Amino acid sequence: MAGLIPDNCLEDILSRVNIVEVISAYVPLKRAGRNFKACCPFHEEKTPSFVVSADRQIYHCFGCGESGNAFKFLMRYERMEFLEAVELLAKKAGVILPESKKQDPAAVNFITQLYKLNELSGLFYENNLSLPSARLAKDYLLKRGLNEETIKLFKLGFVPDKWDMLLSHLRSKNISLSLMEKAGLVVPKDNGGYYDRYRNRIIFPILDPRERVIGFGARVLDNSLPKYINSPETPVYVKGRNLYGLNLSKDSIRELDFVVIVEGYLDVIVPFQAGLKNIVASSGTAFTPEQARLIKRYTSNVVVVYDGDAAGQIASLRSLEIFIEEEMNVKIVSLSEGLDPDSFVRKNGVDALREEISNAKSLFDYKLSILKSRFNYRNIDDKTKIAQAMLEILAKIKNAVLRSEYLKKLAQDLDIKEDALFQELKKFDTGKPSANPVAPNQRKQLNISPTEKLLIKLMLEENDLITRIKDSLHPRDFLDERSTKIVSHIFKLFDEGRSVEPNLLMSHLGSDDFSQLLCESIFMPDQLSSEEKEKVADDCVKRLKHEKSRQHRQSLEQEIKIAQNSGDEDKLQSLLQEFHGLIKKGVRI
Ligand code: UTP
Ligand code: MN
Repeated sequence: MAGLIPDNCLEDILSRVNIVEVISAYVPLKRAGRNFKACCPFHEEKTPSFVVSADRQIYHCFGCGESGNAFKFLMRYERMEFLEAVELLAKKAGVILPESKKQDPAAVNFITQLYKLNELSGLFYENNLSLPSARLAKDYLLKRGLNEETIKLFKLGFVPDKWDMLLSHLRSKNISLSLMEKAGLVVPKDNGGYYDRYRNRIIFPILDPRERVIGFGARVLDNSLPKYINSPETPVYVKGRNLYGLNLSKDSIRELDFVVIVEGYLDVIVPFQAGLKNIVASSGTAFTPEQARLIKRYTSNVVVVYDGDAAGQIASLRSLEIFIEEEMNVKIVSLSEGLDPDSFVRKNGVDALREEISNAKSLFDYKLSILKSRFNYRNIDDKTKIAQAMLEILAKIKNAVLRSEYLKKLAQDLDIKEDALFQELKKFDTGKPSANPVAPNQRKQLNISPTEKLLIKLMLEENDLITRIKDSLHPRDFLDERSTKIVSHIFKLFDEGRSVEPNLLMSHLGSDDFSQLLCESIFMPDQLSSEEKEKVADDCVKRLKHEKSRQHRQSLEQEIKIAQNSGDEDKLQSLLQEFHGLIKKGVRI
């Protein structure tokens, strides 16, 4: 990837942007000596182990090992492609990227192409809404209470009743059919050729929080079925990773510190237009941990509003337990009279919906009340069932105090001894593995020897030491392949007379392991003076060489054994010779 943009361009960008500024746009950083600290945005933690170094222009988490430079941060945090991160920071730094590289279609990443194609299609649909043939569609939207401004804001569109409206439009722009198919916009015919996936429908583009069009929902204008057709999964549209409307509601969610989650597109749009802006839609699927974490970037408080006729309520409640596992607060509103948020607002006004929201019940209370209405809790069997179903939630609450409060409440409510419930709860915990198997401090171990890390650190700190080390070591003298790769890159940059900086190495070498190894090296604690550094470097070199020979000797011994067993005399003799040569050089085990 990095090869598409010349190194000097990347160096230019990295030298002009400040990583502290880049990261603090997303994560509140606190100064700590020469560095900045925060709770890691990439794993759950309560005490900060995420460090940003202004000197080195890199970040590193001592908890989970995630590390890198400014490009890498944007790639991880904003899920950007490398090229996108480069473009964004280039703009920020005022660096102009070479045009030819940018426009070379082969150079533009496939994912970026999908985003562009979606955007182009979205615009096409949007413009169609002012065609004379869109009169019915426009009237439909107005009849559902939307105004012009809202239609524009949500970029709603229309596609007339033809088999190839979008297809011919995109063809005229030289877009390949295979790309259109991969974007889910056209469907292959059995006998060859393609046709538009959406025909004679109102189009709801689905945007991600960065305003990129990732997919579409398309609704019929009447009561025919299927009511909605949605984008299939594509590399940019993964169901359960996004929430409809978040691009427009995120600021309000952050400000009000809670989010309202509804089911349908219009259940977002109608309340939003009426002023309730902290609202998103799940689009009728079960919640995923990814969605919970996505919301958590803005708030930990969730109010889910169900349609009044929500069938199988208990089953859908189970999917809300995801929020509990993510230690978020989740409350529930169930609208009356079979209304959904859209029709409720149009019938009763948005303030009535706000009122319902402020009276929302916690998941615990809500589930308990449903269970109690369904079962006869004076009957012992039923009571056991209720307790069992409620313990499912309790088992997922991580905070011990909260858990015991709820346990007390449940015991009182069902008139069961608290201790008995507690015994059952314990069974629950061991009965199945922790509901959330991702351990909070799941640190990836690289297992690279401190000697190698220290040498890398020293070369990065004192570029003068590179010659000294290069004279006595070959990159392959490093036992770990990743160290070898980093060291040969350091040597190469040095030989070319270029600056040897960790953030540059990171953009050249790309993969996560390299970033982590570089950071683990750089952040190794030491208090060495310049002279001491030289001595330590010499020591490390000696140790590495020794280790290398020791391994050599071990493998020779192994081979000798094999040769003895198989009776291969010639081989045995030459191996023995090699072995004695080593002994003479004084390699001990
Ligand atoms: P609803 O049936 O509640 O639709 O489905 P709605 O949003 O209230 O639609 P209107 O008010 O009749 O226009 C809720 C959500 O489930 C998904 C859509 O995301 C919809 O917004 N859905 C529903 C489909 O994907 N396909 C369907 O056929 C129906
Ligand atoms: Mn509806």
